[in-house]
Amino acid sequence: MRTIIVGGQYGDEGKGKFISHLALEDNPEIIARGGVGPNAGHEVHYRGKRYPMRMLPCGFTNEKSRLIIGAGVVVDPEVFLKEVEMIGGDQDRCGIDFRATVITAEHKERDATQTPGKIGSTKSGCGPAVMDRAGRVAKTVAEVDELKPYLTDVAKEVNASKNVLVEGSQAFMLSVLYGTYPFCTSKDVSASTIAADVGLGPKSIDHVVMVIKSYTTRVGAGELKGEISVEEAEKLGFQEYGTVTGRPRRTSKDLHWDDLRFAATVNSATQIAVSKIDIRFPGNEGKTNYADLTGEAKAFIEEIEKNLGVPVTLVGTGPDATHIIDRRKEIL
Ligand code: IMP
Ligand code: MG
Repeated sequence: MRTIIVGGQYGDEGKGKFISHLALEDNPEIIARGGVGPNAGHEVHYRGKRYPMRMLPCGFTNEKSRLIIGAGVVVDPEVFLKEVEMIGGDQDRCGIDFRATVITAEHKERDATQTPGKIGSTKSGCGPAVMDRAGRVAKTVAEVDELKPYLTDVAKEVNASKNVLVEGSQAFMLSVLYGTYPFCTSKDVSASTIAADVGLGPKSIDHVVMVIKSYTTRVGAGELKGEISVEEAEKLGFQEYGTVTGRPRRTSKDLHWDDLRFAATVNSATQIAVSKIDIRFPGNEGKTNYADLTGEAKAFIEEIEKNLGVPVTLVGTGPDATHIIDRRKEIL
């Protein structure tokens, strides 16, 4: 089975948590990261520790899975090497496609000075690195000595295995093509592009899991329908702060149905994962059985299924990787 996980809103839907669950549950031989680059911050809680992952796949929680980064990702060598250390320093376990683009100090400098301030970029150098790749003047990871031990052919690896989990980053509404342009990231991040990032063709994918949060948040600028104030969001327990930048996230209480339907279509989502049901509906903390959810929470999940026409197979009920309801065996 080859599964891709993507975000359905503005990022920070809780992909990291579902990825670490699938990694432990499905035992993927390979976990491959697509998406833009270290502008992503996936937060993984594992054995009482918090891991803010920006480059390596969040599925590191399964110690048997190989962790690789696709050709389409722009790589910050410093961030990558730090994360390899953070998860235990095993060089043989981690790899980067030799074709991937390097983020240089100059890219970060340009992101800080040239990316229009109104976009609220994470300033991690991703946009300028993507631009230089398109301009055919970028360096590849093969030109960085410290990365030599990690170079591999990710495209060949993922096509040679039948048990692959592919991790997207950012989210549909931040896509440079389908999102809220120009308030968006520097690449398309829908499932097809994520697949191409790691070298998988459209017919090589069995499942697309689109992750949504029980309410909507966004960091940086751009439209956010139904936005509420930080005070109101704090009162509801919805207020969040960014993993990469520490910025307070903007909040809307609503799910934006038209956007979500469009996201499910373009991503060809076959499953929906819903995070933070316990935050939206107190009384559901740490539940692991669907039957144990409150009536309100169940009605909400049914509403999502009815509106998107896609089954909700995974439900997040708390921060820990084990705080999850997995309905795949019943539904699929
Ligand atoms: P950039 O991709 O760092 O240039 O940022 C462009 C916009 O996308 C900004 O509003 C960022 O906050 C947002 N963004 C980029 N990556 C992520 C992510 O992983 N989660 C949430 N927002 C992101
Ligand atoms: Mg994030």
